Amino acid sequence: MVQENSGTGTADAGGGDSSRPWQTLSSGFEQARAREDSLDRLVEWPAQRSLLGDVTGLAVLDAGCGNGAKIAQLAEDGAAASVGVDISGNFIAPPPGVELVEGDLSDLAAVPGLAGRLFDRILFLQSFGYAADPVRALRTARGMLAEDGFILLTRTQPIRYAIERAEQNGTSLGEEYFATESFTYRHRNWDEGVTLTKRPYTMSDLLNTFSAAGLWIEAAVEPRMPAEAAERYPHKQALLNKYLGILMFKLRPLRGPQPSR
Ligand SMILES: C[S@@+](CC[C@H](N)C(=O)[O-])C[C@H]1O[C@@H](n2cnc3c(N)ncnc32)[C@H](O)[C@@H]1O
Repeated sequence: MVQENSGTGTADAGGGDSSRPWQTLSSGFEQARAREDSLDRLVEWPAQRSLLGDVTGLAVLDAGCGNGAKIAQLAEDGAAASVGVDISGNFIAPPPGVELVEGDLSDLAAVPGLAGRLFDRILFLQSFGYAADPVRALRTARGMLAEDGFILLTRTQPIRYAIERAEQNGTSLGEEYFATESFTYRHRNWDEGVTLTKRPYTMSDLLNTFSAAGLWIEAAVEPRMPAEAAERYPHKQALLNKYLGILMFKLRPLRGPQPSR
């Protein structure tokens, strides 16, 4: 099934990537993620889990949680309150203590049941790009952090999309990296038939978004494949050699006067 975006949806309205095709895409995405050789299993989730550290007794909110498997894992690891929010509404049966809610990460405070709640960890794992207004979404999340809480945000290296588009369009890396027009994107491993609309971003776009939302970067990580996994799955190491993988940020609220917009 092809689900086209008009190009005048969330991407143009607020700067995020369009999230509407996810009702269709989510099962393909989850199947790909569950594969033994998925980069999420081999590289991303281990690195995300390591940055989260001990979650015992913590309240955790996973924004754009997919089917909820990661937040369920955190509940098993001892998180006291575990909430997952996703627009697809395509969830696993929630284990005891886990709440999975259909909602939009663009405004987490407006998601049913979340108003007034505070969290020690708020996760945007490969989901932040779908916020209608990225700065607003992060500011809202920042306001929902408990004392000493942090946001864990991961995003695809922007260079990956620039390389792909340079190859497709016969252009150069720099031309595509600095392009500003939204582009359509199909993910081979998820569902060839679904088109996502994406807005190009540069590293400075991403870093300035964090500043504008009143956040500072406590740690940034570019996770790599462990040598043993690279040997077992050389085709995945080859992908990372070409496209670099994802960026991960541990973000904390700036104290004092906040930037105005
Ligand atoms: C690439 S997947 C990542 C899923 C999961 N966080 C992970 O790390 O495996 C992106 C997820 O964001 C969700 N999503 C997209 N737009 C959204 C929105 N506006 N609000 C909430 N979830 C959204 C999709 O349904 C999908 O589950």
